[in-house]
Amino acid sequence: MTVSFWLNGKPVSAEGGPTLTLLDWLREEQGLKGTKEGCNEGDCGACSVMVTDTAGSRALNACILFLPQLEGKAVRTVEGISGPAGEIHPVQENMVALHGSQCGFCTPGFIVSMAVGHLNGRRDHDDVVAGNLCRCTGYAPIVRAAEASATAPVPQWMTGDADLVAKGGGASASGPVAPETVKELAAWYLAHPDATLIAGATDVGLWVTKEFRELGDVAFLNRCADLRHVDEVPGGLRIGAGVPMSDLLQLVAPHYPSYAELIRRYGSDQVRNAATIGGNIANGSPIGDNPPALIALDAVLHLRRGDVRRDLPIEDFFLDYGKQDRQPGEFVEAVTMPLGAEALRCYKISKRFDQDISALCGCFNVTVEAGLVAAARIAFGGMAGVPKRAAHVEAALVGQPWTAETIAAAAPMMAQDFTPMSDMRASAAYRLEVAQGLLQRYHRDLAGETVSVLEVRP
Ligand SMILES: Cc1cc2nc3c(=O)[nH]c(=O)nc-3n(C[C@H](O)[C@H](O)[C@H](O)COP(=O)(O)OP(=O)(O)OC[C@H]3O[C@@H](n4cnc5c(N)ncnc54)[C@H](O)[C@@H]3O)c2cc1C
Ligand code: FES
Ligand code: FES
Repeated sequence: MTVSFWLNGKPVSAEGGPTLTLLDWLREEQGLKGTKEGCNEGDCGACSVMVTDTAGSRALNACILFLPQLEGKAVRTVEGISGPAGEIHPVQENMVALHGSQCGFCTPGFIVSMAVGHLNGRRDHDDVVAGNLCRCTGYAPIVRAAEASATAPVPQWMTGDADLVAKGGGASASGPVAPETVKELAAWYLAHPDATLIAGATDVGLWVTKEFRELGDVAFLNRCADLRHVDEVPGGLRIGAGVPMSDLLQLVAPHYPSYAELIRRYGSDQVRNAATIGGNIANGSPIGDNPPALIALDAVLHLRRGDVRRDLPIEDFFLDYGKQDRQPGEFVEAVTMPLGAEALRCYKISKRFDQDISALCGCFNVTVEAGLVAAARIAFGGMAGVPKRAAHVEAALVGQPWTAETIAAAAPMMAQDFTPMSDMRASAAYRLEVAQGLLQRYHRDLAGETVSVLEVRP
């Protein structure tokens, strides 16, 4: 396999198997050791690189980024963040001036994330560096350095990658399978139903780096432009399976701020820039963050096998732990998200605010008419082997007055709906108790009370 892309402003052709990671290639083949290996699973950001394509520049974790995902794109490592004549970037200057580095192992990753944030004019510095772990310095000096750099002009060498990418260049003849259209993908997958589809690789990457799995036939979805389409359809948005979380966040924010906040807490910037909505649904995870929100919204999943398409309510897709309603050769093409559910609220409970998988995630969508509950859709992740509705709770609410008494009577029904498990994220008892608490929180939230309290000041 040969993959061609731009590396720190120069054209390169990389040879290797389709699941060779960018991190290994940079360090082992190119001797570019500035990009560090910390966790090798997308958690620490020590391996952050800047990747530019026609959609712009993003920070990504090189440890779970396969080389074929880079075809035709431009990569900038920490070595390329300073200028060709050794000029240092404003974020580097301020990290030094404001004492943003001690042991420095994390620093190259921070520099890349901050430089991408700087390039994109970001001011949400906490979010920009949330995917970068520093155990020595503490985040205050680092965020101060990002703030101090914010108004400095973007160095000229940082803007050239977009022009390089615009020059174009198609898939190389010896590249891996990377269909350019959904139609092509559908035909290929029908003929290779045992193959692994790779979208953002935020799951599949770990199968390789942590489980050392041999994947056999693979197809990369990232060149499939029509898999990233978003279309307005009557009553909603039809979102292509290839849309990454960071784009989904922007799409959802004007309609469902609470859902957008859930996505803001999905992994980190680097993870959201890679992970796709299709992957987050297709993997069938009981703790994926999108499915409970989409079930509460009564979203429709669009599946495709060859030229045959079928639609189903997304809640019907999740049959059992590890089992989805998907035939060999069938894939997720899109999901239609209804708009207009003003009462949708999404609550993620995890040990850390950023960069953590949900212990549980509750999404609530209750319609109240003339003081009575007319309809209720309540879905949880982390409470069962699949993302699942709280059917007994819903039944206890519908037709009742929307009052604290009704909530108190309905909440214990959670125990009839769910028999959660205990694991490293939470105990079964904790999950059950918190799920009931979230129902109360929802009631108070709709009443206008402040329910998200992140900091208590005396
Ligand atoms: C550091 C880190 C933090 C994370 N944090 C969160 C979090 O906060 N919340 C959360 O929900 N998840 C989180 N995840 C999990 C991960 O991001 C998701 O499961 C992700 O959505 C998978 O999407 P992907 O595009 O990366 O899929 P991939 O890894 O490419 O694929 C995942 C699976 O889906 C299949 N697949 C992909 N696309 C399709 C398609 N269109 N049709 C059929 N099958 C398909 C693949 O074959 C594979 O089986 C995190 C992961 C990491 C590494
Ligand atoms: S090495 Fe930790 S995110 Fe890549
Ligand atoms: S300076 Fe040591 S981990 Fe960040």
